[in-house]
Amino acid sequence: MANRSNRPSALNAPSAAAPSPEVDISGTGASSKVTARLPSGESVEVLLYGATVISWKSDGGKVENLWVSDAAKLDGTKAVRGGIPVVFPVFGPPPKDHATSALPQHGFARTSRWEFLGKSSSEDALDASSVKLDFGLYSSNLSDEAKKAWPYDFGLVYSVTLSKEGLQTVVNVRNEGTKVFEFQLLLHTYLRVKDISKTTVTGLAGVPYVDKVLDATTHTQSSPTLSITGEVDRVYASIPQDTTTVLEDGKPRFDVVRDNVDDTVVWNPWKEKAAALSDFEPKDGFQQLLCVEVGSVQGWQKLEAGDGFEGGQLIKSLL
Ligand code: BG6
Repeated sequence: MANRSNRPSALNAPSAAAPSPEVDISGTGASSKVTARLPSGESVEVLLYGATVISWKSDGGKVENLWVSDAAKLDGTKAVRGGIPVVFPVFGPPPKDHATSALPQHGFARTSRWEFLGKSSSEDALDASSVKLDFGLYSSNLSDEAKKAWPYDFGLVYSVTLSKEGLQTVVNVRNEGTKVFEFQLLLHTYLRVKDISKTTVTGLAGVPYVDKVLDATTHTQSSPTLSITGEVDRVYASIPQDTTTVLEDGKPRFDVVRDNVDDTVVWNPWKEKAAALSDFEPKDGFQQLLCVEVGSVQGWQKLEAGDGFEGGQLIKSLL
């Protein structure tokens, strides 16, 4: 009998191989989505339509951190009401005197079908695995209408990285044409909270903001803690601190850490606005959400031909 103890080491069964993150692609057409799951149970789902993150579960997969409307369209007929829509190249209604003027509110990234560029993962025996999903959107993918409305050659690569630490979402913008362009970028994150009346926000003290509820007038955040007691739609600009914290009952629930972007929008539609949104269900769902949207929306980012820009966020679930 052959002496098996001398068999070549390459034939040895893997000893302490760490389990790998799983990545699946499911659905067809505009409803296609990519799901990634860590061996420890955390998961993320990204719809190719808009490269919209529509679920992020932490704590071994037990806690859903994002709010998505029960009436959200997930079939590519409308921007998703919830999750993390990507706002590009304009935030809000485009100004009349700007190159984005013919685009719809919040631009075309959230209503375009992105390509799944692939995954990369790292795993180790200490269960510190992570998985990165890359999505691409290029001028060539745009509808004829969007191309005509914003005739620039660009490339966007959106990287969504899931780890036990949190969810990182970063956008890389490249000017692939010969003309300079200007853009705004925002990650419109709908955070799920238990009860908006017990939810507060810190990390914005002393920061100036435009209050869209008060006729777009400018104010300064005087109190260190922001409580949400009615409709809120504020654009905090040039924030010196990197981290905005959402607290529940005074205990930190999420840290939203900005990466190379300086602005944050805080939005909750409250009762009347939610009632007016056809894709917002249940109608009292505003009590379970707070949008904390990081980006670069004060003024414009200018990109020369051949140049690139990268910015995004890391969201930590602090349960
Ligand atoms: C926020 C804006 O970012 O998005 C709000 O500050 C806006 O003014 C909200 O109402 C939702 O926009 P939409 O286009 O998804 O209904």
